[in-house]
Parts: sequence; structure tokens; C-alpha cells
Amino acid sequence: MANTILVGAQWGDEGKGKIIDFLTEHADIVVRSQGGNNAGHTVILGSKKYVLHLIPSGILRPDKVCVIGNGVVIDPVSLVGEMETLKSQGVKIRRDQFLISDAAHIVFPYHRLLDEQRELGKGRNKIGTTKRGIGPAYGDKAARTGLRFCDLIQPPLFTEILRARIKENNAVLKALGAKTVSFKEVNDSYLGAAEKLRPFVTNTVVYLHQALKAGRNILFEGAQGTFLDIDHGTYPYVTSSNTTAGGACTGSGVPPHRMDRVIGVMKAYTTRVGEGPFPTEDSFIGDILHGMGREFGATTGRARRCGWFDSVATRYATMISGIDDIAVTNLDGLDGLPSIKVCTHYKVGRKLLDVPPTDSRQLSHCKPAYVEFEGWKTPTTEAKKWADLPPKAREYLKAIADLTGAKLSIVSVGPGRDQTILL
Ligand code: GDP
Ligand code: IMO
Ligand code: MG
Repeated sequence: MANTILVGAQWGDEGKGKIIDFLTEHADIVVRSQGGNNAGHTVILGSKKYVLHLIPSGILRPDKVCVIGNGVVIDPVSLVGEMETLKSQGVKIRRDQFLISDAAHIVFPYHRLLDEQRELGKGRNKIGTTKRGIGPAYGDKAARTGLRFCDLIQPPLFTEILRARIKENNAVLKALGAKTVSFKEVNDSYLGAAEKLRPFVTNTVVYLHQALKAGRNILFEGAQGTFLDIDHGTYPYVTSSNTTAGGACTGSGVPPHRMDRVIGVMKAYTTRVGEGPFPTEDSFIGDILHGMGREFGATTGRARRCGWFDSVATRYATMISGIDDIAVTNLDGLDGLPSIKVCTHYKVGRKLLDVPPTDSRQLSHCKPAYVEFEGWKTPTTEAKKWADLPPKAREYLKAIADLTGAKLSIVSVGPGRDQTILL
């Protein structure tokens, strides 16, 4: 299936995990290249539910190789925990099946405390982060004060640098009125995790280039979504990495000209978790989805904010990432609705906008201009092929793909692997 980048085209939680699991059948290697354990990717296999945070969703297929690339920020203790949870669910991770970049940056407890404290300090203006320390960890990376996996696996050196880092960060935490961290506890737990992870740590750039040379197919699993991108998202209500297609290159060391295709995953409606502007937010559809027990966060359990499909956003996502194909998920979430709205433009006063304004404050004043579709009011969850979908659902899908400006290639009508229609 060639080398494929999969990105979230909205605000995250589009169903990337499910689509990755589906596409992995035709890939050899699955790579995560940005984000950290702020991600929560759900895969449902039969009666079992798996939630992946750092490990690529391809791990559920034992004959595939999974790679955590250099662009990811990793909490090693949390990663070991994730591996143990998978093991308890019957998924054993073999040494020849999992690689961790030695250049990936490490998330420390002081990053989490700083994340929490900065959020508290912002009060009403908080970002609504996952409190996993992602912002401070990427901050240290950019400030060149971070520690990487190649440091973690060299204990004396690691301990020496860590001591200095904790001293500095504890002073900052103290000044902010926050708890501080114990050097001994962090050093012990991180070195413990390092021993468990050491067999998997390597130069993943070299590995991926050998795989490219051997003609193997690589699938890049994006985390978060386009509008959480640090450059292109609704700044400052964003995460701290490049969630758009370019992030797959910088975060893995695979060059742009080796990428063959970009798939954008989007829900048939829109959700967002955390603060920040969300033009099509509507409690009517939110109440319906929450009432169905849907749209609660996979990482933090928070109720996701819900709204109508926003084609201004998905068009822009298509532009930034060069989305060729789209996968629309959660079509079944709209099954019971008598009518469905789709945002085609934003209105600001009398002006109609085709692209989202850069300034989040302006975006928060944009009102959606809608077109309305008649609902199909028929369950779609059993549909196996395009022709099985109700005509009105097909019309809706065609319209949102047209407005987005990319080819509709996958439709998902339920969380299961077999509830996926390939066009
Ligand atoms: P990700 O972060 O993009 O991987 O998405 P999440 O896993 O956080 O959230 C997507 C949710 O939707 C998960 O609970 C999935 O199991 C579920 N899901 C994905 N596709 C579908 C679908 O087509 N229908 C239904 N009902 N659920 C879906
Ligand atoms: P997946 O990969 C949805 C959101 C947070 C917050 C903002 C910043 O499952 O789609 P952070 O902890 O990254 O500093 O939080 O980004 N956020 C996500 N929202 N899905 C995610 O990941 C997210 N990862 C971060 O809610 O608004
Ligand atoms: Mg998620």
C-alpha cells in the first residue's frame, strides 16, 4: 500500500486508532512520529477494547513492526505500564516487533507538575491539557534542556544530568507554589523503566531507511489532529507538536519524497476535548451523542464537546497535509437524526470566510453558515459495502467529501474492524 501518512483532520479523536488497525493489514511497519501519551487511540477487536497511548495501534497485529520515532515525547514509566496492560490483555510485545528511537525526548514528573501548575495559573484561560506534561517536555526539547532515550540508557550520565535538571525544575516549581519532585524517586523509577525498555531502543532512522530500501510499506500514525497542531492549529489552544503531515517526516527521519499518500481521518460530525474555539459546537448533537454513551475521552475520560461537520476546517486540513483520501468515521452516530447540518463557511458580520482565521479570538467570533441534509434514520452499523448504505447517507458522505476536497476512500460505521467500508 506504499508509504502512507494518516492524520487527524479535526481536533483529535477522529478514530485514527481504528483506521490504523484496519490499514495495518496491508502495511509492514507502523510508526508514531509525534505527540506522547496525551493520545488515546481506541481499537476494538471482538469484545476486547485496547487503548493505545504511545505504542502504535499496529501492535495488535503480531506480524507487524511498530516504531516510536524521534519526534515522540515518551514517559518511560507510562510506556512500561502500557506494555504491561497490553500483556495482561494477551498482547505480548516481542523484541523484533517494537523499536523506540534513541533520539526521542523523555517526559519527567516535573513536566507533568509544570503542565498542571501552568494550567492552574491560567484560570479561565486554561488550555484544558491532558496534564501529561507534553507542553513542558516539548518546551525543554526546543530549549535544548531535554533528556533523550540515548541518555536514559547510559545510567551514570543520565543520573548526573537528571540531578541538575531536577534541581532547576524544583526551583521553578517552588516559585510557582507547586509540589516538587524527589530526585531519588525519579532516578530509581526511570532507571528501572530504562532496563525494561533498553532492548527496544535503537536508531530508528537507520531501521526505517533499511526498510524503505527493502521496499517495505510504512504507515505513519498521526496523533491528535490538524487543529491541535502547534503551527496550524487554534493557537494557543493546541498541543505542542506538528500533528499535520510534515510531522511524520521530521518525527521519523523519513524524507518527504518517500511518502506516497496522505489519508485524513474525520468524524462525520466534529468533536473537541479541551478549551478553545469550536465554531460548529452544538449541545443538541452533543446531548444525543453523550446520551448514546459516546464521545468520552480515551485518555482523560472527559466528555468531548460535540458539533456539526465543519468543512471549512476539513478543507484547510486537506490543504496543509495534502490529504489525498479521506476516511469518515462514526457515520452511525448520525443514524437517528431527522436532519443534519454541515458548515460550508464561517460568517463574521456580513463577511463569509472560506478558511479559518489564524487568530483564535477571531475564530471564536465566527458563526457557521450551514447547509442542511435530511437524515437517513436507518441504522448503518451492519453495512458492509457502499451499496448497503442508505441513499441519504451516501449523499451526505459525497457532499462532505466534495466540500473537503479529497477522495472518499473509507467509511466507518462502528468501532469494530469489520465495520469498515473500503470504497
Ligand atoms: P483516535 O484518538 O483518533 O484514535 O480516536 P479515539 O479512539 O480517541 O476516539 C474514537 C472513538 O470512536 C473510539 O471510542 C472508537 O472506538 C470509536 N469509533 C471509531 N470509529 C467508529 C465508528 O465508525 N463508529 C462508532 N460507533 N465508533 C467508532
Ligand atoms: P488523540 O491522538 C484530542 C488536546 C487536549 C488539549 C490540547 C493540549 O487521541 O487524537 P496537551 O496535553 O497535548 O498539552 O493538550 O490538546 N489533546 C487532544 N485532544 N485527542 C488527542 O489525542 C489529544 N491530545 C491532546 O485536550 O485541548
Ligand atoms: Mg483519542
